[in-house]
Amino acid sequence: MIDLHCHILPALDDGALDLADSVAMAREAERDGIAVVCATPHIRYDHDVRIEELPERVGALQGELDRRGVGVRIAQGGELAQSAADSLSAAHLHAVSLDGGGWILLEPAPGPLADELPALVERLRARGARTILAHPERHAGAASSSERDLRKRLRALIARGCLIQWTAEFIATSGLHDPDAFVLRLARDGLVHLLASDAHSSHGGRPVVLSAAVERLRGTCSPEQVAWIAERAPAAILAGEEVLPPW
Ligand SMILES: [Fe+2]
Repeated sequence: MIDLHCHILPALDDGALDLADSVAMAREAERDGIAVVCATPHIRYDHDVRIEELPERVGALQGELDRRGVGVRIAQGGELAQSAADSLSAAHLHAVSLDGGGWILLEPAPGPLADELPALVERLRARGARTILAHPERHAGAASSSERDLRKRLRALIARGCLIQWTAEFIATSGLHDPDAFVLRLARDGLVHLLASDAHSSHGGRPVVLSAAVERLRGTCSPEQVAWIAERAPAAILAGEEVLPPW
């Protein structure tokens, strides 16, 4: 499997505290059957992440994993904040795309998904970048009207070629024991395209684990849809291919 969203680079943003923490996160990924972890530090005004340093930082972590025999590849990327997306140069936009394939992991501004997001997706596409929307569950309210509103906003983004990445832990645990849980309804309706850990540390918070979410989806989606979400779509993203959800 491929983890498309992980704050695994050490001592950089609000992710891994140090190199030992990064190595522990990579071991956690390996135990879960994750072969590639995208390093996606925050590209946002309140984090001092210098994009030109990313190749060296990714290379240093990869070297440490190779020395310790951890069988995980670290791919370069970033989690680009909505507020920072328009101001990035073409070179920086390419450098934070996932494994250099041109797909951008976009972090929405706090609160409900903004009206201007579809236009931003279109502007990024005009610049040669494709968009993955990160963690929509954080941008959905609790009222039933919020689910309708979220569905409408996600469909507007999907219509513009955007893929929707949900946090694996949320998929695995939200509305547990409810076969009609919110996130399962959305998955059945084709609004779940990708899973990612969005892990920040081995010391606490979300783990670098995707398998539990995949297992939960198996109970609600067809085997073909689960295989597409878990394997085919993320591989195509790293390869820089066009990805059209069949659902
Ligand atoms: Fe993140």
